[in-house]
Amino acid sequence: PRRTPLIAGNWKMNLDHLQAIAFVQKLAWNLKDANHDFAAVEVAVFPPFTDLRSVQTLVSADKLPLAFGAQDVSAQDSGAYTGEISGAFLAQLECQYVIIGHSERRTLHNETDEQVAAKVTAALKHNLVPLICVGESAEDLATHGPSAVPVAQLRAALAGVTNAADIVVAYEPVWAIGSGQAATPEQAEQVAAALRGVLTETLGQDVADKTRILYGGSVKSGNIAAFMREPNVDGALVGGASLDIPEFSSIIRYHK
Ligand code: G3H
Repeated sequence: PRRTPLIAGNWKMNLDHLQAIAFVQKLAWNLKDANHDFAAVEVAVFPPFTDLRSVQTLVSADKLPLAFGAQDVSAQDSGAYTGEISGAFLAQLECQYVIIGHSERRTLHNETDEQVAAKVTAALKHNLVPLICVGESAEDLATHGPSAVPVAQLRAALAGVTNAADIVVAYEPVWAIGSGQAATPEQAEQVAAALRGVLTETLGQDVADKTRILYGGSVKSGNIAAFMREPNVDGALVGGASLDIPEFSSIIRYHK
């Protein structure tokens, strides 16, 4: 089944709201100059919360064909949760996506599988597409092999999800993030196929067929095409390289 590839840029804690405007404008110009077909390869950016209003304003004023979303969301709708951001607020800013369960949140903020599942449910409730991140550490890989941890993380994340859900999954081996040492396309394919198996089991064939599974971890213009040739890899979640316009633009135009 044909799935529209998605190239997603996770800015992490980079670019303030003025830099975000300049960046998004330049990226859009660069892609338009290159005649990028946005319907053929979807592009999404994930700025810090404080940039979202700027990005929304620019995207809607200039009718830019870019999707955007936040890097995290609260499991709660509203109330006494100091520092948290509700999915309702993100939806109001026209976010389409939200990253949930990134390994940096799992490790640096001790996010559990249960919290990830609650955030996924909250995102769907507010009509946001959760971009669910899973991935094993080097230690997990040595102890449990390639697919066990990502498969268990995805099963847990889907605990409250119904079989009509619009979701995206990102496989990001922790050892490949920011290390310059990407997984091989074969490794990514093996885990992506296992993750699609989980989607089939839990949400049914239709959802499994239409759900995009991204690879993330040291993706660059030089290795993207090889990942995209794998049948179960439908795009990339790009960190460092998404902050460099020519490089990110080349990743987006991987088929050229
Ligand atoms: O969310 C993005 C990933 O953490 C990948 O980061 O491309 O800098 O390795 P990276």
